[in-house]
Amino acid sequence: MTFEEARAQFPVLDRIAYLNAGTFGPVPRGVHDALVQALDRDFEAGRSGMPYFEETMELRTEARSRVAGLVHADPLQVALTASTTDACNIVVAGLGLTAEDEIVTTSAEHFGLLGALSISPARVVVADPEPDAILAAVTPRTRLLALSQVLWTTGRVLPVLELREQTGIPVLVDGAQSVGAIPVSFAGLDFLTISGQKWLCGPDSTGALVVAEPDRLRIASPSYFAQASYELDGTFEPRPGAARFEPNWWSAASLRGFLAALDARPEWAFDHAADVAERCRVVLSSRVELATPEERATLVAFRAPGDPAELVAQLYEQGVHVRETPKTGLVRVSCGWWTSDGDLERLVAALP
Ligand SMILES: Cc1ncc(COP(=O)(O)O)c(C=O)c1O
Repeated sequence: MTFEEARAQFPVLDRIAYLNAGTFGPVPRGVHDALVQALDRDFEAGRSGMPYFEETMELRTEARSRVAGLVHADPLQVALTASTTDACNIVVAGLGLTAEDEIVTTSAEHFGLLGALSISPARVVVADPEPDAILAAVTPRTRLLALSQVLWTTGRVLPVLELREQTGIPVLVDGAQSVGAIPVSFAGLDFLTISGQKWLCGPDSTGALVVAEPDRLRIASPSYFAQASYELDGTFEPRPGAARFEPNWWSAASLRGFLAALDARPEWAFDHAADVAERCRVVLSSRVELATPEERATLVAFRAPGDPAELVAQLYEQGVHVRETPKTGLVRVSCGWWTSDGDLERLVAALP
């Protein structure tokens, strides 16, 4: 697939310099078509009968297996969720921590992770998002490191595997800004969350949780997917693998759309995204103060010359879609495998 062919999958790019996959990725034509066709089928043929149910369950199996392939995990380690937020809640609630325990996190996490931590009885220790500060925050009571692999604010990459290895403490990796944007391997990690709607360009409300040892995590919130069989008193035999944590049904449309999103990705997706993010840093550096360090992924953040929300609104008016990150004074540019130099030129030209 050439770059032009890849980009032509996104009609929205003809009009908009779409630099906001950190929130929602652009929708490829294949995803659109899969969603519409599946919805038409539900509309015309109904959503019932064993063949319908079995086919949808087979699509789930395929989706788990494709996610596993993406992050080098085993399909049995993958649960389909609706979001990273779901995945964080499943892990933190499932660990069954007590007030004697501590969780180390950073001051640059998204509420999708922080919300789950905030309702854990464990003490949450907040470190600066620096490897040394994270290591210094670990005590004999630490039961979990809860960290983003790519910070949603500055785009900085945290060395999650090294931190896991140096501390020996299980790590919950918030992969919302890493999976689909940079190569991610689950090897050596304990829990990894995935958002389908961002860098994977999948449908809304799609995501996944990868769990190294599913049968060692408690099922804190059983859905129908938790059980292989159950009794009328509510006791149940969990499904094998991480599927036991799955919180919700995905429509056949969502499943087909998600698989189409993975099909839309060119082989060179990571290389192009890394290159174009670097070019973005370079072109912005002469105009604004960059906040993205060298250990960066595909987000590039800069300090807004004035009010960040106003600047984002002004850029939006000119067809340049970026976002500000709250409480940071930063504006964030998301560079994906579909981003062109022309998009970057439009961004720079639209700056005040
Ligand atoms: C680092 C990070 N974590 C979690 C989330 C929440 O993701 P989701 O909507 O999939 O729960 C986001 C979304 O922007 C994010 O950037």
